[in-house]
Amino acid sequence: MPTILITGGAGFIGSHLVRRFVHHYPEYTIVNLDALTYAGNLENLRDVEHAPNYRFERADIRDPQALADVFNRFKPDGVIHLAAESHVDRSISNPIAFVETNVLGTVNLLNAARNLWGDDTSGKRFYHVSTDEVYGSLGEEGYFTEETRYDPRSPYSASKAASDHFVRAYFHTFNLPVVLSNCSNNYGPYHFPEKLIPLMLKNIRDEKPLPVYGDGQYTRDWLWVKDHASAIDTIFHKGRNGETYNIGGNNEWKNIDLVETLCDIMDEFLGREPGASRKLITFVKDRPGHDRRYAIDASKLKNELGWQPSIHAEEGFRETAKWYLENEEWLLRVTSGEYQLYYAQQYG
Ligand code: NAD
Ligand code: DAU
Repeated sequence: MPTILITGGAGFIGSHLVRRFVHHYPEYTIVNLDALTYAGNLENLRDVEHAPNYRFERADIRDPQALADVFNRFKPDGVIHLAAESHVDRSISNPIAFVETNVLGTVNLLNAARNLWGDDTSGKRFYHVSTDEVYGSLGEEGYFTEETRYDPRSPYSASKAASDHFVRAYFHTFNLPVVLSNCSNNYGPYHFPEKLIPLMLKNIRDEKPLPVYGDGQYTRDWLWVKDHASAIDTIFHKGRNGETYNIGGNNEWKNIDLVETLCDIMDEFLGREPGASRKLITFVKDRPGHDRRYAIDASKLKNELGWQPSIHAEEGFRETAKWYLENEEWLLRVTSGEYQLYYAQQYG
């Protein structure tokens, strides 16, 4: 009966992954290891907290002793590693935190798996969840493939690129059975409102300015978070050791078009005049080193493992907007305290 350790399970993507594994694999024990930083919230998992195959361990991946303790007690057969500092803007104001968690934390975790498994790695797997941002920025044309040269340009993406290199190094040097994926921008319920979509939904609701960076022509490839969880599930069970799989939604949006679409959806849901919320759009100072365009070629994952995204963008954006309107208490709780300070510093 396998035990799977998921790090960062109290965060946005991690909570969807934990929920999926707890429901789909009742024969597995799912251990959620999370330090509960500002981005981690056990409320995201209220519906599974009493499931018989679920355990929560509060631990920090920067602390090797804490990891050794959890690994010795649970003896995981698989690790799916999502814990990270994940917000580009925060990496610009505090890069070192990203080195500590994303680079050192990942190496600590690789060491913990190696120490536990030794040379007997049959049936074992270390899955590292990474980002398309390691590939840098695209022009108007082209896509990131698994062969695209790494070219990280923010402290966040540099730290994720470094962690990817360490994971591959442990495969080549120590035969650790690793697999990696690099995914595009996710959206959906439980997304922390420092990121574009939930921040815009919150501000539209509150009739506050909608801060669009630069000229608003930056492009992202948006993926429904539950489709990311299903891709991770597929790769964890069917992917080949030492391989990397790109995950994407084939769903490119310029930021300004996306924000306008969110305005229109929210106007409809809130019974406001059509066009009312678009008046809140405010162009603000650009993000330093802002990557122009991300777009993923996910054909390897589709052709080799048969994965595809399940829902269309407009449907996903409507679902997301509805969720944020129906979960006001969650939104209020996660935006009290530290968030207010962050918001004042970031947006003035
Ligand atoms: P998130 O910020 O919502 O959650 C991160 C989680 O990690 C939180 O629960 C936090 O408490 C935990 N954590 C942070 N530092 C920790 C530490 N030192 N020890 C233990 N736990 C710690 O992030 P997310 O958006 O869910 O992203 C999860 C992973 O997926 C990250 O590795 C990120 O790089 C990657 N990713 C995210 C996206 C995206 O669009 N959000 C896309 C591709 C890849
Ligand atoms: O591509 C995957 C990455 O996507 C993940 O690895 C990161 O963890 C995740 O945060 C995300 O990074 P981005 O920087 O693309 O996401 P963010 O939501 O911060 O910004 C999306 C776009 O919107 C980007 O072009 C910047 C812009 N933006 C963002 C914010 C917060 C604005 O115009 N205004 C804003 O207030």
